[in-house]
Amino acid sequence: MTSVPNLLKPVEKGSDPVCFLGVLISGRGSNLQALLDAIVDGRVRARVAVVISNRADAPGLQRAAKAGIETLVLPHRDAPSRAAYDEMLVSALQSRGVTLVCLAGFMRLLGPRFCDAFPQAILNVHPSLLPAFPGVDAQRQALEAGVRVSGATVHFVTPALDAGPVIVQAAVPVHHDDTVASLSTRILSEEHRILPQAVQWVIEGRCHLENGRVVVR
Ligand code: GRF
Repeated sequence: MTSVPNLLKPVEKGSDPVCFLGVLISGRGSNLQALLDAIVDGRVRARVAVVISNRADAPGLQRAAKAGIETLVLPHRDAPSRAAYDEMLVSALQSRGVTLVCLAGFMRLLGPRFCDAFPQAILNVHPSLLPAFPGVDAQRQALEAGVRVSGATVHFVTPALDAGPVIVQAAVPVHHDDTVASLSTRILSEEHRILPQAVQWVIEGRCHLENGRVVVR
């Protein structure tokens, strides 16, 4: 049995240990907002060091700026290769002391260079009960498959698309008259609940990998 220790190194600020988060977004940033709200009301003991978007027009950048958080636009098209883009992200995050990375609607696949830089310290939120419906349009995929239950997943990130070890999931019903919009709304409110929860579990060192599965203590 393999057991991987928690690798986050909290930063000491006075007597208060603080984990520095890096949040990667591509769009609206409602999951980023859920994290910011959870930090403000004390459910997540962390500080967001930087919000990085691969798109300059991501509305989530305004949410970060409003909260006084540094923002950075790193367009993936500026990098000559996927590995070079990974490298740009890693150095931006590490230079700001980030020890835990959250992908909150970040629509780029990250490679081994990125994943190796933050072992067991990259979380992604996805709008389905993985391994069902990975990739884009997960809510549409669920409707087209005719499932009666879908939901949200927070998982550790590996280079494989939406396939890393699951930390927490939340199920929602799929109604016969659901549209992509109505199902997305129902799932999103669960994303907003479980992403901060998973982040805090990881910060507290409650999540460990055993035989490739996450055990939450
Ligand atoms: C969420 O549904 C997330 O699961 C998916 O993209 C959406 C991003 O929403 N990967 P937001 O930008 O956090 O509002």
